[in-house]
Amino acid sequence: MRAIPTDRGACPFDPPAGMADEPLSKVRLSNGDQVWLVARHDLVRQVLGDTRFSSEIDGGFLDVPLHAVQPQPGMFIQMDPPEHTRLRRLLTGRFTVQRMQRLRPRIEQIVTERLDALERAPRPADLVAEFALPIPSLVICELLGVPYAERAAFQEAGTRLLTLTGTQEELEEAMMRLGGYLAELIARKRAEPGEGLLDDLLDSGLSDEELVGIAILLLIAGHETTANMISLGTLLLLQHPDQLALVRQSPEAARTAVDELLRYLSIVDVGMFRRASTDLELDGQIIREGEFVTCSLAAANRDPALLDRPEELEVSRPKAPHVAFGFGPHQCLGQNLARLEMEIAYPALFRRLPGLRLAVPLEKVPFKSDMAIYGVHRLEVEW
Ligand code: HEM
Repeated sequence: MRAIPTDRGACPFDPPAGMADEPLSKVRLSNGDQVWLVARHDLVRQVLGDTRFSSEIDGGFLDVPLHAVQPQPGMFIQMDPPEHTRLRRLLTGRFTVQRMQRLRPRIEQIVTERLDALERAPRPADLVAEFALPIPSLVICELLGVPYAERAAFQEAGTRLLTLTGTQEELEEAMMRLGGYLAELIARKRAEPGEGLLDDLLDSGLSDEELVGIAILLLIAGHETTANMISLGTLLLLQHPDQLALVRQSPEAARTAVDELLRYLSIVDVGMFRRASTDLELDGQIIREGEFVTCSLAAANRDPALLDRPEELEVSRPKAPHVAFGFGPHQCLGQNLARLEMEIAYPALFRRLPGLRLAVPLEKVPFKSDMAIYGVHRLEVEW
């Protein structure tokens, strides 16, 4: 049995070589676990849309084997209905397009401030540290009511939780640290409520453990994902000056480009597992109860059945029904926020620094092949 493909040597912006070789095949993870790999758009949607492929699991890739779990309170990404539905419903209204649009002026202000800071920074500057990470971090902190000044207490632990190499002890320790900080923050909020989503949830009938779980989930999901899209998307556009010129053209062009960048880069790929809760049939193959399945969102998003010329980056093409945000009941809760941050950040960056360029050869850029969410660790830029 082949190992799950991980080699992006040929092109750092493409899915690992061999990912789409077979629509459905058994592969081995680095921890020795055997899982079904689903790599065709229609099959990926079938799996993610069917909750008999359960999300109540943990582990994978690390020393930690995949196993069924009793989800931690509040961590609804690891829950099935009806519990998943109960918790997600409390939040969906907070992340609608309209609600997110109210944040637009504040996000524009944050982006401008980060550009001011970037211009003052010594050159070459690290675009990740100065721009791509602080923007989603400031936004999600304000939205939740988590003090940004206290980010030392949660950013490092959050990164640790997404690292693919590490032991069970390291993971548990990071989770404890993050949970400890947020439990203490929620206790402070109970004593003196402030303004933010977590404050609003204090009286919604959730236990403190559930609130902590929700806070961990939103804080981690809200940070790393968008930060990676801003930095990796910038790098990709710098490699495609013709496409970059289109993004610069108008706010509408930038808005259209965002979904193509999401599709093309698919920064969340095979990191999300499901477990068959009963014997199930997929593409004529029986998946036995208890077997694990992972979906390659990157392969699905480059499926020729999804769109023409899937391997081409074409930022002005109409939005394809890509699965970069997943699909089905667990489809990304924060997608409207992520889109808004990107559609503000890219054009603002390229307008303010028209001469923006990489300060090191592409081969020297440290790509995040060691992380559950793809991106770059650093991006040294000049202008
Ligand atoms: C470009 C940025 C982002 C990408 C590519 C992304 C991708 C994803 C994907 C693929 C899933 C599905 C997981 C699964 O099915 O197991 C997901 C779920 C989720 N995302 Fe995002 N995400 C992004 C930004 C955000 C942001 C900014 C937030 C903050 C609010 C967020 C919050 C969540 C939550 C809470 C879930 C779990 C939803 C559920 O289980 O019902 N994400 N995301």
